[in-house]
Amino acid sequence: MDLSAKTYVITGATSGIGMAAAEALVRAGAGVIGVGRSAERCRAAEAHLRGLALANNVRYVVADLSLQADIHRLGEQIKEMLSSDGTTALDGLVNNAGVFTYWLTLTPDGVETQWAVNHLAPFLLTWELLPLLKAAPFGRVVTVSSGSHYGARLNWADPQLRRRYNGLQAYGNTKLANVLFSLALNHHLGTDSTVRAFAADPGLVKTDIGMKGTPALVRWIWQIRRSGGTSSDVPARSIVFLLTDPSLHTASQVYWKDSLPKQASREALDVQSAARLWELSEKMCGIKE
Ligand SMILES: NC(=O)c1ccc[n+]([C@@H]2O[C@H](COP(=O)([O-])OP(=O)(O)OC[C@H]3O[C@@H](n4cnc5c(N)ncnc54)[C@H](OP(=O)(O)O)[C@@H]3O)[C@@H](O)[C@H]2O)c1
Repeated sequence: MDLSAKTYVITGATSGIGMAAAEALVRAGAGVIGVGRSAERCRAAEAHLRGLALANNVRYVVADLSLQADIHRLGEQIKEMLSSDGTTALDGLVNNAGVFTYWLTLTPDGVETQWAVNHLAPFLLTWELLPLLKAAPFGRVVTVSSGSHYGARLNWADPQLRRRYNGLQAYGNTKLANVLFSLALNHHLGTDSTVRAFAADPGLVKTDIGMKGTPALVRWIWQIRRSGGTSSDVPARSIVFLLTDPSLHTASQVYWKDSLPKQASREALDVQSAARLWELSEKMCGIKE
């Protein structure tokens, strides 16, 4: 596959699935703009990817996706980078960055952390980059969801679960929100749009997601659980497929696993919930179409 004329943005491209997807794209010749929250890890990832192929256009931007101000700044920086490349087009955005938090924590914006990073950040960054995606011949928005969305159900009176917090339930809700967001985005774009949105289910993957800032018991459980998972290269292949395959220009399925459409939960395909979540997200991000 030759992607040398393409440019993709990947969030959470400093480890795990995001790093593997960035590597797969770079190996195929694509330009990659990686996003990470740590300057040091961004530098290391950029050096690693640049080492793979000299001609590649690999750049990283540091942004904390739990902060809406950082997301706005990130959007501006990406626009400037592309404009200095002489283009206004972005071929794809991978909303991959994600966290699991066991305890209720709030971001400086006053939002529950998983809701902010796993759901609102994809919503706001996509909104920021949509004009660039629309300028590409076929723009793609791939949001990394999870099988954890099965069984999840949004509590509209308390979507962030601030009153009765349960970390796993809150995580599942954000992964449900990822599918609803993709559904709503396709609805807003309309069937004639050149931009398509997909939710990717990576399966169980051997990454450090459960090891970051979690209590010892959670780390122990995750260490056992992830041992049955695949390497990050497996979902990375599927993400690259969703970003690039021409057969998907007109695809109507929203939820994908291993490069195949998969039945999402009934809650995840509820168009009324998708519209309601869209409205709520607009309010929480202070934007209006
Ligand atoms: N692993 C699985 O089995 C599995 C299964 C289903 C879905 N997923 C989903 O896959 C996605 C990637 O997770 P992963 O398993 O690859 O975990 P990971 O290795 O921990 O990767 C998460 C990435 O997100 C970044 N990140 C976290 N918080 C951020 C913030 N506030 N601002 C900017 N970047 C931030 C991390 O940065 P640092 O490198 O600085 O930590 C890292 O690059 C997540 O959306 C997750 O929900 C994973």
